[in-house]
Amino acid sequence: MKAAASIRPVAVITGASDGIGAELARVFSRNGHEVVLVARRRDKLEDLANYIESSCGKRPIVVALDLSGPEAIEELSINIAQAGVTVKYLVNNAGFGIFGCVTQLSPDEQLAMLDLNTRALTALTLRFLPEIIVLRGGIMNVASTAAFIPVPGGAVYAATKAYVASFSEALSEELRSSGVKVSCLCPGPVATGFQARAGIKMPDKMPGLLSVDEVARQGYKGLMTSKLIVIPGFANKLMSFIAGIMPRRMSLPAIAANNKKTTRV
Ligand SMILES: NC(=O)c1ccc[n+]([C@@H]2O[C@H](COP(=O)([O-])OP(=O)(O)OC[C@H]3O[C@@H](n4cnc5c(N)ncnc54)[C@H](OP(=O)(O)O)[C@@H]3O)[C@@H](O)[C@H]2O)c1
Repeated sequence: MKAAASIRPVAVITGASDGIGAELARVFSRNGHEVVLVARRRDKLEDLANYIESSCGKRPIVVALDLSGPEAIEELSINIAQAGVTVKYLVNNAGFGIFGCVTQLSPDEQLAMLDLNTRALTALTLRFLPEIIVLRGGIMNVASTAAFIPVPGGAVYAATKAYVASFSEALSEELRSSGVKVSCLCPGPVATGFQARAGIKMPDKMPGLLSVDEVARQGYKGLMTSKLIVIPGFANKLMSFIAGIMPRRMSLPAIAANNKKTTRV
């Protein structure tokens, strides 16, 4: 009992230097969680840590790390152990997409995307799950509405997100009686650094476009209420539903044609 009282539970948020992850870090902090911010750009993480400390009173732990590196998970574990904290919530948000035909894109970049979006996410989950189970915490995996349909013009990206959704759904069933919350956040388009890295133009008006804070707020609520699949926005829910029932011979050419218009390569 005495040992349990000294545990300092934290929420680890990957990809917290920008976009959805930075906003999720703000939402977790506002709700009283101590957070660990993980991404490569230390300066951006420190800026966010300053903001959270001044607005919420508790300074986040900053770990500047490339999660696609072979030693990354071990390095994060060491940082967490040295800080004397225990992982209660894990938010696997770090990820990126690149769009274009597989033959036109760099093979190395596509494999790096596969590594970060799936391998690192899985390795982090397997590493921290034992302590999350003990603390009856939760895991949020960030996928995408691209998880629900193959995407010609974003083939590897969509396949990584299908993996994330599949893994999350199966994991939630395996953990059903453990008290651990599992949630898969599946945003539609959100204006972040994602588009520049992906090589896509975001049209001025787009159905389902939501603000980053709305997406983070719904993601947090979904995790805390153990909602398995969280698709923010009515238009995104509707499009995901239609994608699921539409014959692929009709949907795939339409998606391919649309991606040709919005992709730069
Ligand atoms: N924006 C959208 O339209 C959209 C839609 C659906 C799903 N998503 C998903 O939402 C998640 C967050 O994306 P976002 O839109 O917020 O994009 P973003 O603004 O580009 O943020 C991506 C985050 O991931 C971090 N990151 C990238 N590579 C990393 C690496 N190797 N190691 C550690 N951290 C890394 C980045 O930080 P550093 O560069 O500092 O490392 C950044 O903090 C992604 O999984 C993305 O697939 C986005």
